[in-house]
Amino acid sequence: MAEIIAGLTSSHIPAVGNAYARKLFDDPYWKPFFDGYPPVHQWLDEQQPDVAIVFYNDHGLNFFLDKMPTFSIGAAPTYENKDEGWGIPTIGTFQGHPELSWHIIDGVVADGFDVCTCQEMAVDHGFTVPVQLFWGDREENPIKTIPICINTVQHPLPSPRRCWEFGKAIGRAVASFPGAEKVVVLGTGGLSHQLDGTRAGFINKEFDLMCMDKIVDEPETLAKLSVMDLVREAGAQGAEFILWMAMRGALGDKVKELHRNYHIPISNTAAGLMLLECGA
Ligand code: DHB
Ligand code: FE
Repeated sequence: MAEIIAGLTSSHIPAVGNAYARKLFDDPYWKPFFDGYPPVHQWLDEQQPDVAIVFYNDHGLNFFLDKMPTFSIGAAPTYENKDEGWGIPTIGTFQGHPELSWHIIDGVVADGFDVCTCQEMAVDHGFTVPVQLFWGDREENPIKTIPICINTVQHPLPSPRRCWEFGKAIGRAVASFPGAEKVVVLGTGGLSHQLDGTRAGFINKEFDLMCMDKIVDEPETLAKLSVMDLVREAGAQGAEFILWMAMRGALGDKVKELHRNYHIPISNTAAGLMLLECGA
């Protein structure tokens, strides 16, 4: 059976895409951010996962305010990145795994999550920046991907608990897939940030570090938060933390923290990176 071996988290700040393209890895502004990633690269080199399930949020590239599904699962053979207007060079085609996508869709619908199924899906910085940070250029790193999009843009957003439960349903579905795939699950976005309004630039280090601590052994505590708690404590866009909750749900009860990095600010955002190994 397929197996989820770990969870990875990463922020998805668009400016990172530009810095990556310009190879600013040793630039003083960027170094403390990029320096967080090599230990994860080493772990990925050792483990060689086959598939990355990526919980991310679309920011208006694939879905817009006129049609905004709460949960959407990609079921395409490939996914294209398109220009969003941030000035980030678009990056190559991402490989999908449609058989595993449909197995997950069957599983979560049977479990009561009536998702939007996407046989075509354009992916934005919410997906491309974390995948690029972990696997570099597509041509060199043919990781198969399953994009799973959760609405963090237009209220009402699904609660942290609902996303955690959604992740658990995905974990159960993967565990029943008749294959030998080693799977990693990405929780992207966050941590605290607010891009507009009177609190633009808001960052809450204490709250972020509490979330990074509790997501390891006490996700139940975080599941008690409401979306409005997240907006108040982490900023309007800090509500992207629900994507981390979905990732944590997919990992099962016990995880071991192997690595973390926290750096503020990158652009307007607190950048959080974690590697959580399953079953420890
Ligand atoms: C920024 C952060 C985001 O999460 C995003 O989607 C867009 C911009 C930022 O900090 O610039
Ligand atoms: Fe975002």
